[in-house]
Amino acid sequence: MKVLVVGSGGREHAICWSILKSPKVSKVFCAPGNAGIDSIVNIVNIRLDDLDGLLDFALNEEIDLTIVGPEQPLAIGIVDLFRRNKLLIFGPNQHSSQLESSKEFSKIFMKKNDIPTANFESFSDFDLAREHIKRSEYPLVVKADGLAAGKGVRVCYNFEEANEFLIFIMQDKIFSTSGDKVVIEDFLEGEEASFFVFTDGKSILPLDSSQDHKRLLDGDLGPNTGGMGAYSPAPIVDQETRENIMVDVVDPVFAAFKRDRIDYTGVLYIGLMIKDKKSKVVEFNCRFGDPETQPLLFRLNSDAFDLFYMTAKEELSKYKLEWKKKSSVTVVMAAKGYPGKYETGIPIKNLSEFQDKNVEIFHAGTRKVNGDININGGRVLGVTAEGDTLKDAISSAYRSVDKLDSTNLVYRKDIGKKGLIKIA
Ligand code: AMP
Ligand code: GLY
Repeated sequence: MKVLVVGSGGREHAICWSILKSPKVSKVFCAPGNAGIDSIVNIVNIRLDDLDGLLDFALNEEIDLTIVGPEQPLAIGIVDLFRRNKLLIFGPNQHSSQLESSKEFSKIFMKKNDIPTANFESFSDFDLAREHIKRSEYPLVVKADGLAAGKGVRVCYNFEEANEFLIFIMQDKIFSTSGDKVVIEDFLEGEEASFFVFTDGKSILPLDSSQDHKRLLDGDLGPNTGGMGAYSPAPIVDQETRENIMVDVVDPVFAAFKRDRIDYTGVLYIGLMIKDKKSKVVEFNCRFGDPETQPLLFRLNSDAFDLFYMTAKEELSKYKLEWKKKSSVTVVMAAKGYPGKYETGIPIKNLSEFQDKNVEIFHAGTRKVNGDININGGRVLGVTAEGDTLKDAISSAYRSVDKLDSTNLVYRKDIGKKGLIKIA
C-alpha cells in the first residue's frame, strides 16, 4: 500500500514511523514533512493549503490512503475533495471539522445536545462583548472563534486582561478573520486530559488516555503553547473516570452526531477538564493531538496502518486494538523564545549522531541544510521514551534530552510529574 501523510510536525513524524512498521505498507510519502521525516520516508514539497497540488500528487502516485495530520487542510475541505475524486482519506469532512474550526459551532452543538461543558456566550460585535466582560465574574476564558494555532485562547483573571485580549482579537485582528467572533466562557476548574476516539461513522474505538502539558513552564506556568510534552496512559483517567467519560461525554457526542447528521469519520480529540472523576469538554479537535500522538503511537502494539486504513474503509469494528503494557513520555524541546518570536536556521549540533534504540526523537520544526539539522519552527523535537513504569519512562526520556545540544532550545523539566503524584 502507498500512503501519503499530510503535515510537518512531530505528530506526522510519529504517524510515518508507526505505519512503516506495518508489512502492508510499501511506500510512504509526507507533504511537506521535516528533516526527521525526510530520514525515514519520501518528503514532497507541497504546502498544506495546496489542496489541488496534494490531490494531483495522490492521483498521479495512485496513493491508497491519505492520512491528514493537522486541522488546516481539514477545515478547507481536503477530505471532501479527495472523496469526490474517489481517493481513500483519513479525517472528517469540512462540515464536521467545524467542531474544531469554529468554537461557536462546537459550543452550540454541545449546548443543544447536553454535553457537559462550560457555559458560554458568543459575540460578533465588539461593544456587546465588552459589555459582557464588564458584567462577568472572573476568571473568564476568552476565545477567538476560528483556528489560531493554539494561541486563540486566554484565561483572564480580571477585566483589564479580558479587554486587552478582546481588542487583540476583534480590533487588531491578530488572528485575522478567525477573530470575527469570540466565545466567552466560564472558567472550569480541574485537571486536563486528552481523550481520542476513532470512528468510521458506524462504530467507535476509544484509545487509552494521555495528557498534554500546554503551558510553557514547569508547574503549568507561563503562556499556553501547542503542547510542551505528553504521556500515556494518564493516571488521572482511572477506571471510574474513564467510565464516566464514556457515559457522560463520548456516548452522547456520537449519538448527537447521528441526530444532527454530522457525518464524522477519523479521530475525534476530546479535550477534557476533570474534577472529582467527572469530566467537562474544554474543546473538540478533529485530528490527533500533537504531542499526544507521539507517546500514544509509541505504546501501540497493534498495526498502526490498519488503524487508519480500517477507519477510512469503514471497517473499524474489525480492528483489534492492543497496547504495550508500558508507559511512554514525550518531552518537547522548543526554540528559545517560543511561543513568541524565535530564531530559525541555527543547527542542533549533535542531533544527527544521536542513537538509542529505545528512544525516538520525533522532529517538528527542523530542516536539513548542508548536512546540519537546523531549527525551523517553534516546537523542534519530541524526545519519546517508554518504561515499565511512568517513572522509568520519564527517566529514560530525560536521559536522552540531557545528551542533546540544547544551547538554543528550551524544555520543561516536569513532564509526567503530575501522573507520578497521582500514582504515589
Ligand atoms: P482550547 O483551545 O479551547 O482547548 O483552549 C486552550 C487551553 O485553554 C485549554 O487547553 C485550557 O488549558 C484552557 N482553557 C480553555 N477553556 C477553558 C475553560 N473553560 N476553563 C479553564 N481553562 C480553559
Ligand atoms: N496538544 C494539543 C493539540 O494538539 O491541540
